[in-house]
Amino acid sequence: MVSEKLQKARDFEGKYIPYVPASKRPAFHVTGGIGWINDPNGFSVYKGEYHLFFQYHPYSTKWGPMHWGHVKTRDFVRWAFLPVAMAPDEPYDHAGCFSGSAVEMPDGRQLLMYTGVQQVRQEDGVLRDIQTQCIAIGDGINYEKCPENPVLTEKDLPEGGSKYDFRDPKVWLDEDGSYYAVVGNRCSDDSGTILLYRSEDGIHWTYITMLDASYNEYGKMWECPDFFPLDGKQVLLTSPQEMTPVGLEFHPGFGTICLIGSYDKEHCAFLRERVQAVDYGIDFYAPQTLATPDGRRVMTAWMQNWSTANCQPSGIHCFGEMILPRELTLRDGRLIQNPVRELERYRGRRVSFRDVLVSDETNLQGVRGRILDLTVTIRPAGKSGYRWFRFNIAKDGEHFTTVRYKPETSKIRVDRTRCGFPYDIVHVREFLVRPRDGELKIRAIMDRHSVELFFNDGEQAATFLLYTPEQADAISFEADGAVLMDVEKYDLLLGAEPEGGAQK
Ligand code: FRU
Repeated sequence: MVSEKLQKARDFEGKYIPYVPASKRPAFHVTGGIGWINDPNGFSVYKGEYHLFFQYHPYSTKWGPMHWGHVKTRDFVRWAFLPVAMAPDEPYDHAGCFSGSAVEMPDGRQLLMYTGVQQVRQEDGVLRDIQTQCIAIGDGINYEKCPENPVLTEKDLPEGGSKYDFRDPKVWLDEDGSYYAVVGNRCSDDSGTILLYRSEDGIHWTYITMLDASYNEYGKMWECPDFFPLDGKQVLLTSPQEMTPVGLEFHPGFGTICLIGSYDKEHCAFLRERVQAVDYGIDFYAPQTLATPDGRRVMTAWMQNWSTANCQPSGIHCFGEMILPRELTLRDGRLIQNPVRELERYRGRRVSFRDVLVSDETNLQGVRGRILDLTVTIRPAGKSGYRWFRFNIAKDGEHFTTVRYKPETSKIRVDRTRCGFPYDIVHVREFLVRPRDGELKIRAIMDRHSVELFFNDGEQAATFLLYTPEQADAISFEADGAVLMDVEKYDLLLGAEPEGGAQK
C-alpha cells in the first residue's frame, strides 16, 4: 500500500523533476530527483541491475524528514530514476527513515533494512530521537513495511549501548544461508562501536557480538558501517563523527576510515590489523559497497561533508550527489580505489602528449573541459629535479583549483580557495602519496562541479566539489624546476550510447 505521505512525495517529484534542466545535474553522478540527498542506501544487485537508494528530502535543498529516493543502473554511469521508495509514515519512523541497506531475498523479493527514528520525550522533559532498525520488503518499486517493525530495539543492545545512536544497518545474505547485519552504535565510553546481528528470515534478529570499536581513538559515533571480504582480508568501513586529526592521515570532523584485518567467521571475531583514511579530499562520507556478479567490490559514497553541507550554491534545484562508484582491491595491505571500468566505455575524443617539458606555465592544445577523464604522469627531467609541480583545473581569468605535488615531502596539496565558492570553509587538503621510481600518476575524473583524484592507480583517492562556473574550463601545468609530463585526456560523452547499447 502506498501511504498518503509516500504518494505526496512521489507526486511532488513527478511534478518538479521536469523543471531541473539536464545541464544543472552532473552528467554521470547520481543526484536526487529534486531537493536534498545524503547517504547512499541499499546499494545492491536486484534482478540483475544495480539499485541505489539514498537519504532524501524532496521538498527542499536542506536536510529534513528522511525519505528513501531510488535510482538504478546497469553500468554505474547512466542512472534511471525510480519513484520514492519510502516515506516516514509509521509511528516508529515518523521522524525519518534513516540510512540502511538492501538485499535480494531467495524468493526474489527485495528486503530493505533501515533505521526508523521516532522522537520521544524523555523523563527529563527533553525530546530525543530514539533509533531502531526496521524492515520493508518489496518488488524493486513498491515496499511494504513489516508488521514486526521495529525488529531491533534497545532490548537488542549490549550493555551500555545507546538507544539514541543506534543506526545504519548494512545487511547481507551469507553463503551459510543466514542474513547478517552490522549496525553502528555508541557505547558506554561515548564513542562508536559496530554490532553484528544474525537472522534466519531477515525479520527476526539476534545480537551476536561487537566487531570493533573506536575506544575514543577514531572519533566518536561510528556511522554507516560496511563489512566485507576483500582479497583474502576483511574490511570494515565506517564514517566516524568528531575525528581528531592525526598527521596528514585523518582530518578533524567527519571522516571515513577503513579497518583492514582478518575475520574468524566461526567465532564472528574481527581482528583489526591496520586503519587508514578512505578519501583524502573534502567531500566524501558514508560509503556503501556491493559485490557485482563478476566478482568486484564496488563502493559509492555521498560526495559531501556534514561540516560544509549547509553552504550551498544559490539557485539550485538539487543538492547533494554521489561519487562515481569505485572498484576496491587491496595492495600492500592498503585499500586501493579506482573508478569503475564501465566509465571507459564513455570515453570520447582522446588527446595525448608524451614527454612534455614543463617549467613555465604550459597549456596543451585540446586539454581543457569539465566533463573528462584526464591522466597526468610526471617525473623529473634531468638530474636537478624540481621543487614542485602543479596543475590548475576549472580555470579562467578569475577561478582555478590547484593540485600541487612536492617531491621532497611526497606531499599533495589541493586548494580550491579560488574555485568560486564564496564561503569561509575548509578549501585545502594536504596528504602524502607514494611515488614509484620518482614517477607520480594522477587521474582526475571531472563532472561539471566535482573532481575525483586518484594517485598511482588508486593508492589514494581525494574528492572535491568545485562550484566553479562551467565556462571556466582551462587546464594548465607549471613546475618549479623541470618536469617531464605525459598527458592523456578523454572527453566523457554521456549523450552517446555506450558500447553494447543503451540502458533500457
Ligand atoms: C550519516 C547519517 C546517518 C543517518 C543519516 C541521516 O550521514 O548521519 O548516520 O542515518 O545520515 O540522514
